[in-house]
Amino acid sequence: MPKPVHHVFVCSQSRPEGHPRGSCGATGAGSVYEKFAEMLAARQLLGQIALTQTGCLGPCHVGPNVLVYPEGILYSSVLAEDVASIIDQHLIDGSPVTPKMAPAEIW
Ligand code: FES
Repeated sequence: MPKPVHHVFVCSQSRPEGHPRGSCGATGAGSVYEKFAEMLAARQLLGQIALTQTGCLGPCHVGPNVLVYPEGILYSSVLAEDVASIIDQHLIDGSPVTPKMAPAEIW
């Protein structure tokens, strides 16, 4: 398997309802992951871009969170409708989607 150009980690952590930290799983991470999987497959990018569900990345209060390497860019409050721009603008064209990047005080 060739080394991927990018690795996308989608926080898929879930916690019980009422937990003080909340979780990305409770705020829509599942649909974000499914959209990445669907769109990367449709663009035939799964050989170049790795996609992984991961546990808590830290800033649960701004989830769902998506971390992209090798840049180490964290996207926060990601919705399924944001996935196309992250793929097309960042992963393909190399220009991060600035409005969705986590604030500097968080990441
Ligand atoms: S649960 Fe996703 S960052 Fe903590």
